[in-house]
Amino acid sequence: MGKIKCGVVGVGNCFSGLYQGLHYYREHSEKEVIGLMHQDMASYKTHDIEFVSAFDVSSLKVGKPLSEAVYAKPNMVDWVKVPKSNVIVQESPVLDGVGKYVEELIKPVKNKPMDQLKKDIKKHIEDTGTEIIVSYLPVGSQQAAEFWAQMCLDTNTAFVNCMPVFIASNPAWEKKFREKKVPVIGDDIKGQIGATIVHRVLTRLTRDRGAELDKTYQLNVGGNTDFKNMLERERLESKKVSKTESVQSQLKKRMPDENIHVGPSDFVPFLHNTKICFIYMYGRQWADVPYKLDLKLEVDDKANSAGIVVDAIRAARIAKDRKYGGAIESASAYLMKHPPVQMSDSEARLALEYFIMGKSEKTGQ
Ligand SMILES: NC(=O)c1ccc[n+]([C@@H]2O[C@H](COP(=O)([O-])OP(=O)(O)OC[C@H]3O[C@@H](n4cnc5c(N)ncnc54)[C@H](O)[C@@H]3O)[C@@H](O)[C@H]2O)c1
Repeated sequence: MGKIKCGVVGVGNCFSGLYQGLHYYREHSEKEVIGLMHQDMASYKTHDIEFVSAFDVSSLKVGKPLSEAVYAKPNMVDWVKVPKSNVIVQESPVLDGVGKYVEELIKPVKNKPMDQLKKDIKKHIEDTGTEIIVSYLPVGSQQAAEFWAQMCLDTNTAFVNCMPVFIASNPAWEKKFREKKVPVIGDDIKGQIGATIVHRVLTRLTRDRGAELDKTYQLNVGGNTDFKNMLERERLESKKVSKTESVQSQLKKRMPDENIHVGPSDFVPFLHNTKICFIYMYGRQWADVPYKLDLKLEVDDKANSAGIVVDAIRAARIAKDRKYGGAIESASAYLMKHPPVQMSDSEARLALEYFIMGKSEKTGQ
């Protein structure tokens, strides 16, 4: 099987972590790759992933080799040094990509008019043989996310949507992908041991053990550009829906909106890429006797999502091999916070195993 030729939109901290990690495992091929569903997914390995194109808006990244751009400010992932790459970061349309809190950190290049940009991006995707686009656009980039979804449709490129604008989970967009037989996985990546998965699993545990959850919150703080950008509450609407529904979906009965609060809460600069999450759960057991849970989770936000994206990329490639179009429901449910169809994490994993084996995701037949 050949390499998996990918492109990235948004050469920010998440991508930097993914890219440096890919290099790390290339250098240490004896090591088992941590953070994956399987080392081999239908015989695709981590090492098969190659980034052949990249798009951003920042004047510190556009026109630079990808191997330099991944360290350009305000990125702050610096785990390993990567060798020089021939891939040059191309200009993407800015649209609504740069929020007011990050304006002083990201100065966009605006060299080309929209028509020219569209033509050049299409040609670049074709010339480089890009077959999957991974989107790491900032929260709140509705127009930019839609531009890239359309670009994938126009170029028959699969789409892995790691950010919380709803594409795979939006029926109108999903239909377009299905009709064009282009695979899409989304939306909003679910970290490996992140706030969402921990909160979901604990919520599911409450249900499975027959207890009643009455109130819960999840507060998150961090110190990178993503958290700074999320200070702009207007950009957060879909992120909040994505995170809240991911937890709500694990309950037997929806909790009243006023009793659940899930969201990013503040920007603490010295935390850099460390994300701290606080989860509180208040419920009742036998004879209405209450219980409380308080949990604090501390993770590197960027190491948390890269392995999941490796699995998403490989699932998209398998779908392409099989000429499958539309949302891959199992991969979206297992790997993303806001999929078209929510499942429990164990059901989603089983459905994805079926998909990998080439069976029906629903029945395993
Ligand atoms: N664990 C995680 O870190 C995690 C989990 C779930 C979702 N996400 C989402 O992934 C996305 C990326 O996160 P990040 O930490 O890398 O963000 P980041 O701010 O570090 O990077 C965003 C990049 O996008 C670029 N950009 C801005 N507008 C653009 C445009 N119009 N076209 C192309 N590029 C543009 C910026 O210059 C920057 O390089 C965010 O939406 C985040 O919420 C991250």
